[in-house]
Amino acid sequence: MRPGREGLGGTARRSRVPIRAATMTGVRNRAARPADVPDMVEVYSASRRDMQARLGVSTPPPSRAALRLAYGHVLSTGMFRVAEAQGRIVAIAGAVLRDSLWFLSAFWTRPDVQRQNIGMPLLREVWDAGVRAGASTFFTWASPDLTALAAYMKLGMLPGYGIFLFEGAPDQLPPVPAGYEAAPPRAT
Ligand SMILES: CC(C)(COP(=O)(O)OP(=O)(O)OC[C@H]1O[C@@H](n2cnc3c(N)ncnc32)[C@H](O)[C@@H]1OP(=O)(O)O)[C@@H](O)C(=O)NCCC(=O)NCCS
Repeated sequence: MRPGREGLGGTARRSRVPIRAATMTGVRNRAARPADVPDMVEVYSASRRDMQARLGVSTPPPSRAALRLAYGHVLSTGMFRVAEAQGRIVAIAGAVLRDSLWFLSAFWTRPDVQRQNIGMPLLREVWDAGVRAGASTFFTWASPDLTALAAYMKLGMLPGYGIFLFEGAPDQLPPVPAGYEAAPPRAT
């Protein structure tokens, strides 16, 4: 808590950032389809780019080709839902379920419509689908985005530990195992 304008002993000021910008109407949630995957990757890319610029994160994104494969895998082996408004996909939420473990693999809303009550209902649907399918442990790898953290904590996914990313040029790498290919991350 920061001291107020009066200095130490003053009251803490309220945040000027509204928790909810507005509530967007005309949003329809539905199951994702294989044909949606390229648009879902675009939602991810725009949202991630915006989040990184806001928060000063600079890790390179995975390639769109890798993402299309990953999202297709979550779609075919897990549960993936999208929110549509005005004929375009505006948010995505997807999870995989392995035994009783539910892992949130994707949760992104387009930057221009964030905090308008689109992501949370979608996330609850994917969560509820996990409950119905027998999940008992719910977890994710969270970005530092405040809205994401708030959404996760509201559902009961509390912080477990920090994740540190180290950057640098690796050397003395062991040989690549047979059948694998090593490649640097590619910017899209
Ligand atoms: C995280 C994200 C997907 C949420 O989607 P959204 O459409 O913006 O979310 P919503 O408007 O439905 O709001 C989410 C919840 O967070 C709450 N919230 C947001 N900011 C908050 C804050 N500062 N304090 C407390 N609660 C907050 C909202 O009130 C809402 O909860 P409610 O429905 O119970 O009221 C979206 O903001 C986003 O794309 N963020 C950037 C990308 C990112 O980091 N994604 C997570 C990857 S792990």
